[in-house]
Amino acid sequence: MVSIGLLGFGTVGQGIYRILQDKSEELRALLGTEIEIKSILVRDLYKERKTEVPLSKLTLNPEDIVGDDDIDIIIEVTGDVDLSYRYISQAFERGKHVVTVNKAVVSAYFEELSHLAEENDVFFLYEASVAGGVPVLKPLKDHIRTNNISKVQGILNGTCNYILTRMTEEGLAYEDVLREAQNLGYAEANPSSDVEGTDTMRKLRILSTLALGASVTEDDIICDGIDSISDLDISLLREMGRKAKLIAEARLVEGGYQAIVQPKAVPVGSYFSWVNGADNSVSIVGKYSGVLGFQGPGAGMYPTANAILTDVIDCILQTQKKTSPLRGRRLENRNEDIRGNYYLRISDCDESMKIPKEYIKEIIHDKGGDFAFITEEMKLHDLLYKLAEYEDKPFSLIAMED
Ligand code: NAP
Ligand code: HSE
Repeated sequence: MVSIGLLGFGTVGQGIYRILQDKSEELRALLGTEIEIKSILVRDLYKERKTEVPLSKLTLNPEDIVGDDDIDIIIEVTGDVDLSYRYISQAFERGKHVVTVNKAVVSAYFEELSHLAEENDVFFLYEASVAGGVPVLKPLKDHIRTNNISKVQGILNGTCNYILTRMTEEGLAYEDVLREAQNLGYAEANPSSDVEGTDTMRKLRILSTLALGASVTEDDIICDGIDSISDLDISLLREMGRKAKLIAEARLVEGGYQAIVQPKAVPVGSYFSWVNGADNSVSIVGKYSGVLGFQGPGAGMYPTANAILTDVIDCILQTQKKTSPLRGRRLENRNEDIRGNYYLRISDCDESMKIPKEYIKEIIHDKGGDFAFITEEMKLHDLLYKLAEYEDKPFSLIAMED
């Protein structure tokens, strides 16, 4: 019997419980043993939930789980960073394997937790923390053994992609679609981390640290979200044959690497323009492999729970490595060299703002105080510096994909 302690019983935790119940016979045949969820940590024992579970399995005390010698594997699905950091570390020290979905904790303590797991000879697996249900980290860990990765790029947040898709395809309002994404269980407990780009940035931190072999920290990534994109931006982009997508990207460049999360205006018909709803997509460019693509549901109960269970099965069958996949290479951050053409819409725009003429390649809208244009090719750094002068003027900045 393999005993599991589950930290968290929300959307994802309940998905895990349901799949394990549904597949118990097949899993017993596959593994030659039974999987039992012994205890489940929650904040409120009596909360109404959509999945029935015996009250005796629920606990408010993480020690009941992490301190239980019979529990072999901890699955962490709370979303709480401080609590999970503490109990994941303790679980390793007590010889327990950990599978987590929590990109916030992996991103914050990636190097430390990877080394602690290796030191204690236990598995630390986090497939579902990046791109939800899409298997991308396990193939990436396999590839970095031979392939030199020069670029990772992707749509990594289901909530943002769902919002942008519904605004573009159905003309719906941002606030209404965000509420839908929350009701569907895609959004974080605090959805500002989705729409401000932080969730995508954490996923890029994990993906790029693995892919490039150097620690790319949260501070090394330029981060913008979709919260300033308006209906007007969506319709102006549509008239130009483009769609807005929140794209994460890390690449090797001359002298180091660049890493950025930003909204991009992608041409209709291009690769990322076909990724719709809560789907995610990741492309990895390797010296020997060429371009590899991974796509599928980036959020939601069953896709995410299923990805977590692939890690759990790897722990039981010992089919991944306990050694840290991080390589400690040193690379210089070259974000100050990022450049491109940008769509810029400034609201409450007036004569006093003095937008330099040499910035403007093409004016696409000038009405009712909203001024939108495409910039000449320029450094992002210079453009942001100029925008800081306009202080409280609302603006939307979207990179033009080639
Ligand atoms: P959720 O529905 O809000 O569930 C969180 C669960 O954790 C709840 O059962 C809650 O207890 C428990 N919990 C939270 N903080 C706790 C604390 N301090 N002490 C004890 N229990 C605590 O969240 P979720 O959507 O399942 O997401 C969980 C994690 O999965 C997050 O890291 C999220 O980023 C990640 N994730 C989610 C998705 C998705 O599609 N939802 C996809 C990929 C990754 P109560 O039930 O008592 O409130
Ligand atoms: N809130 C996240 C998203 C959950 O929408 O992508 C999956 O990580």
